[in-house]
Amino acid sequence: MVTGGGSGIGRAIALELAAAGAAVVIGDIVAAAGEETAREATARGANAIAVTADVAREEDAARLVSTARQVFGRLDFLVNCAGNVSLAPVLELSEADWRALIAVHLTGTFLCCRAAFDAVSEAGGGVVSMSSSYAFKGRPGGAHYSAAKAGIFGFTRVLASELAPRATANVIAPGPIDTPRWRHGLSDAEYAAKRDKRVKDVPMGRLGAPEDIAEATLFLLGPHGRWITGQVLHVNGGEFYA
Ligand SMILES: NC(=O)c1ccc[n+]([C@@H]2O[C@H](COP(=O)([O-])OP(=O)(O)OC[C@H]3O[C@@H](n4cnc5c(N)ncnc54)[C@H](OP(=O)(O)O)[C@@H]3O)[C@@H](O)[C@H]2O)c1
Repeated sequence: MVTGGGSGIGRAIALELAAAGAAVVIGDIVAAAGEETAREATARGANAIAVTADVAREEDAARLVSTARQVFGRLDFLVNCAGNVSLAPVLELSEADWRALIAVHLTGTFLCCRAAFDAVSEAGGGVVSMSSSYAFKGRPGGAHYSAAKAGIFGFTRVLASELAPRATANVIAPGPIDTPRWRHGLSDAEYAAKRDKRVKDVPMGRLGAPEDIAEATLFLLGPHGRWITGQVLHVNGGEFYA
């Protein structure tokens, strides 16, 4: 199951999982986006369904997992990718905006992990949750985002200890990834300027592709990642933050 699987990183992960032979449940708040990913996964030969859900709602997280179990009989892997972003400096950040972002990224990750815990444990599977390089470095305007993304790492450390020895739980901290969200609202010129500025911090000299994160996710969930748990994997083109 991939939350946020209708777009960007989650979409790429869902399609890589499908290509690897998994049946895939795509959970996204945008029905049409989730359904489009499910169609693409099906076209690649996988069993795939889309479930429209808001991960910040307890009942939606439970429904995602119960649907996966009803349709496919089991749930091996959970990937928490759902998220959105807003920016405001601390002094202008309303409590409502703070709570809304924490609800999706941090509480949503908790709710989906709690709902999937028994199934993933029984299957001997794994969880991967998306943090961000911004959990480790500051950016003006992103206090709520950095707090949520750092919280995902603390939460995952504990989750890993509770899922062990049956299943794993890890975090990926992506650097800048070229997704619809990253480009949102920018003209071509603004996008190019943002990209060129951001890439100066990236030794590998380019933005990441969603597939870079998908391949790291499959490594953590696959047979070569079975003794890796409670960790954060920085997939960021070598960007260094002290
Ligand atoms: N792109 C980057 O550079 C980058 C870097 C580090 C970490 N990340 C993290 O990676 C994850 C995916 O990012 P992305 O760039 O691929 O974003 P994206 O292209 O916007 O895809 C995220 C998907 O999640 C959906 N979503 C938002 N809120 C949701 C909710 N409450 N319940 C279910 N689905 C919801 C979004 O719908 P809407 O379109 O309606 O919002 C969208 O379809 C996020 O957690 C993000 O913070 C991204």
